[in-house]
Amino acid sequence: MKALVTGASGGIGRDIALILSRMGYDLILVSRNTDKLEQVKKHLKTDVQIISADLSVEEECFALYEAVREQEIEILVNNAGFGAFGRFSDIPLEQELNMLNLNVRAVHILTKLFLEDFCKKDRGYILNVASSAGFLAGPLMATYYATKNYVLRLTEAIYEELRKDESNVHISALCPGPVDTGFNDRAQVKFALPGMRSFDVAKCAVEGMFANKAVIIPGFPMKLAHIGEKFLGEETMLKAAYYFQHKKKG
Ligand SMILES: NC(=O)c1ccc[n+]([C@@H]2O[C@H](COP(=O)([O-])OP(=O)(O)OC[C@H]3O[C@@H](n4cnc5c(N)ncnc54)[C@H](OP(=O)(O)O)[C@@H]3O)[C@@H](O)[C@H]2O)c1
Repeated sequence: MKALVTGASGGIGRDIALILSRMGYDLILVSRNTDKLEQVKKHLKTDVQIISADLSVEEECFALYEAVREQEIEILVNNAGFGAFGRFSDIPLEQELNMLNLNVRAVHILTKLFLEDFCKKDRGYILNVASSAGFLAGPLMATYYATKNYVLRLTEAIYEELRKDESNVHISALCPGPVDTGFNDRAQVKFALPGMRSFDVAKCAVEGMFANKAVIIPGFPMKLAHIGEKFLGEETMLKAAYYFQHKKKG
């Protein structure tokens, strides 16, 4: 039993790795920072391979796949991602393109390559970490929200294709609200709402993945908020999103 987790050096990815290891899975941990991955490895009881890769670089996504494709991987967790705060016109284009490369292209490439292999074997799980941002447009974090919309919709569509085929390959999108991790430091924001514990989100994610859920929303308040969004309509939600985003300014 083996799982590959991207962005496993901290936050949600580290805690997903921890939970899968406790369940007996050997792990391949991926991020840019080998030292941090070594720290995570110390807390894991199963076999761990560390791969340092910058997944915002397309070639490194393909190289990662080539490095592990012969191994019997059953679970792919596409978790690495980051956000940036500010008016669309103010955020540097290079930073946004980097975000698109990591949050969208890397997820797309790895999902495609691993899904092909999983389908040949007719077994496997893919967990794509989207966000509650995937349900909305996000003024002041426009690009980040758009990337998570992409991840969510891509995952839902693949889910339905697999379900129709009665496949034993499963795919899920994780859509948490605020989670206490290193995310805010990189995005240079502070949460407008209290954040969930990363470990609780990871536990909910793993349970939801094994329950073959299309969309996993950790925590009752966020589930409720998602239902509320459907009743409030696009225009009101856009204004509400601006209000809450503006409160995030660090
Ligand atoms: N925290 C939240 O409130 C929240 C809410 C909803 C969704 N999410 C999503 O959850 C996922 C995990 O974020 P987190 O909250 O756990 O934040 P985090 O603590 O900042 O973790 C992000 C992870 O991604 C890795 N990473 C960043 N850039 C990378 C790159 N170019 N190549 C490879 N790995 C890279 C980081 O490792 P290195 O720095 O070592 O490379 C780190 O392990 C993200 O997709 C995020 O969008 C977070």
